[in-house]
Amino acid sequence: MSVLVLGGAGYIGSHAVHQLIDQQTKVIVIDNLQTGHQDAIHPQAVFYEGDIKDITFMRHVFRNESIDAVFHFAANSLVGESVEKPLEYFDNNVYGTQVLLQVMKEFDLKKIVFSSSAATYGEPEDVPITEDMSTNPSSPYGETKLMMEKIMKWCDIAYGIRYVALRYFNVAGARRSGIIGEDHQPETHLVPIILQAALGQRDHITIFGDNYDTADGTCIRDYIHVEDLIEAHILALDHLNKGGRSETFNLGSNQGFSVKEMIEAAHTVTGKEISVKTGERRAGDPSILIASSKKATALLGWKPTRTSIETIIQDAWNWHANHPNGYLKDVTPK
Ligand code: UFG
Repeated sequence: MSVLVLGGAGYIGSHAVHQLIDQQTKVIVIDNLQTGHQDAIHPQAVFYEGDIKDITFMRHVFRNESIDAVFHFAANSLVGESVEKPLEYFDNNVYGTQVLLQVMKEFDLKKIVFSSSAATYGEPEDVPITEDMSTNPSSPYGETKLMMEKIMKWCDIAYGIRYVALRYFNVAGARRSGIIGEDHQPETHLVPIILQAALGQRDHITIFGDNYDTADGTCIRDYIHVEDLIEAHILALDHLNKGGRSETFNLGSNQGFSVKEMIEAAHTVTGKEISVKTGERRAGDPSILIASSKKATALLGWKPTRTSIETIIQDAWNWHANHPNGYLKDVTPK
């Protein structure tokens, strides 16, 4: 079995590469290293540096390699940035996916597992969110993910390319060995920011609004450990390998934690003081996002094993404390 991983140098993609290689799968990685890190790529993976929008490059890789299935993580993924730069998001995420599907069609490759997002729902009609609820994205990013899902649907009907779309909730944590983890420049995600404050790399964390309609006034999110998330991709591939039809699944923990609860849990896990300030709400943040992942449990047999917030934070801490500058080597650690 050989899997082409697009975006295999990024945070989530690199974890997929490691877990596929753990189970003896041959892995080919494509990444343009725009946000990914060369050092995150598993040494046993075959690496091609290039852009998925470059059809000549893509045809070259497909011609050179024998590929059984694709895992597609190559996308821009910041909600706020997508509001500022919608055309960049449509180009990279939507057009990039079109090129990929064109090449898959040409080379008769019929299986793809790809990252979708809770952002496809927008402000949810209810929680926990099930896959049949209405999708009304509140950002260009969410819109691109929904468009990608729709393009996949029509390519299945026309060309028989079967897909599994995985709608991620809040992915966090790191590989349990601590050799790869999360490193975004600049960092915008809650867990790494809290841990950077715990490490003294930031003087404080700003809570984006404490006047939401929740028990402590801060936003509630559903956090899923990155290793459990990848396990769902591997099960999704099994589903396609067994002839299963195209499906969409939520991936979350069915549980919500507030920003304040996350900070408190990080304080307990790390034993460090974390200084907190309260700021304005961040535009576009829904107050509560909690997944129902019953469908993934029922159809894929998915059972997250590392998704407690303590384990998520412990694994993330293991990575951040040992790699305070992420993948940057030329900076002396504090
Ligand atoms: N937050 C803060 N302070 C910070 C950073 C975040 O209070 O410095 C809060 C946010 O307001 C939010 C929560 O922490 O309530 C989580 O924020 P993240 O930025 O970590 O994650 P989001 O929920 O905004 O985004 C995640 C994924 C996106 C995806 C989105 C779906 O990162 O890719 O869920 O809604 F689109």
